[in-house]
Amino acid sequence: MKKICVMGSINVDLTVSIPRFHAPGETIEGTNFATFTGGKGGNQAIAAARLGADVTLVGAIGEDDFGRSYLETFRKEGVNPAGVAVVPGVSTGTALIEVAADGDNRIAYIPGANGKLTEALIDAQRTLIESAGVFMFQMETYLPGAFHAARLAHEAGACVILDPAPAQPVSAEWLSYCDYVTPNETELALLTGMPVKTIEDAEAAARKLISMGAKAVLNKRGPQGVLLVTAEGSQLFKGFKVNAVDTTAAGDSFNAGFAVGLAMGDSLPDAIRLANAVGALSTTAAGAQAAMPTMAAAKELMDSQR
Ligand code: RIB
Repeated sequence: MKKICVMGSINVDLTVSIPRFHAPGETIEGTNFATFTGGKGGNQAIAAARLGADVTLVGAIGEDDFGRSYLETFRKEGVNPAGVAVVPGVSTGTALIEVAADGDNRIAYIPGANGKLTEALIDAQRTLIESAGVFMFQMETYLPGAFHAARLAHEAGACVILDPAPAQPVSAEWLSYCDYVTPNETELALLTGMPVKTIEDAEAAARKLISMGAKAVLNKRGPQGVLLVTAEGSQLFKGFKVNAVDTTAAGDSFNAGFAVGLAMGDSLPDAIRLANAVGALSTTAAGAQAAMPTMAAAKELMDSQR
């Protein structure tokens, strides 16, 4: 199997469960509060390692207890944190998450050390980045640093997967480093400036993203599945039915499943099917990482829903 390098954010998730999303100015009573390990980079790395991949993480933490204990979690989960820098004078990233009764979530984050992942820190991890067969990243760290890492991986011949979350405008040059871009509907709309309500909208917006430089787009559509759009055509891959409790990190888990499928040499449809199964299973317990599945659990779901 090819090696996977994840570059991305490392956060502490402060999560409140609420009956419903409330209106501005309204106060409502929540049903639970919990602290979880999270961050899109940390989530993707742990999800890929649970599936059995050889995973190295490039990221940044602050000089605090949370960052130090998260390094231990990475080691226990089988993620090599050799590329994680400790940045003095800032805290580890933090995310404030609301999870409604139907499992849907809203997130606000404070970058902390993730915002200090500069080109210089990336250059210090160049060997790790350039030795990966598959490189995954997101947009929750300092963006010029993130795309600098993507360029190094791309030029070294890796397959580069961008999770464009949180979505922000990106240049054609940056998109040209990416083999796959995996936005949900909101992110696709933000990236392209086009409305994305229907599947036809999604295909049109994905085509615009391809014309802007992306090679292929995987539009993550929640329980509906995933729309693959390439220069040659498009295809909808249906999702799996599960009892969703908390959708936090479903997208991260999807990307990890996809990366692991590609690293194993799966065909594109097989890698997308694995990604859909991993994303679905990740929603079945509270917290970003609690329900991220093993490969055996993902295969069981795929066998049970053909
Ligand atoms: O994608 C989910 C993640 O987004 C959460 O774990 C939170 O940390 C935010 O980064």
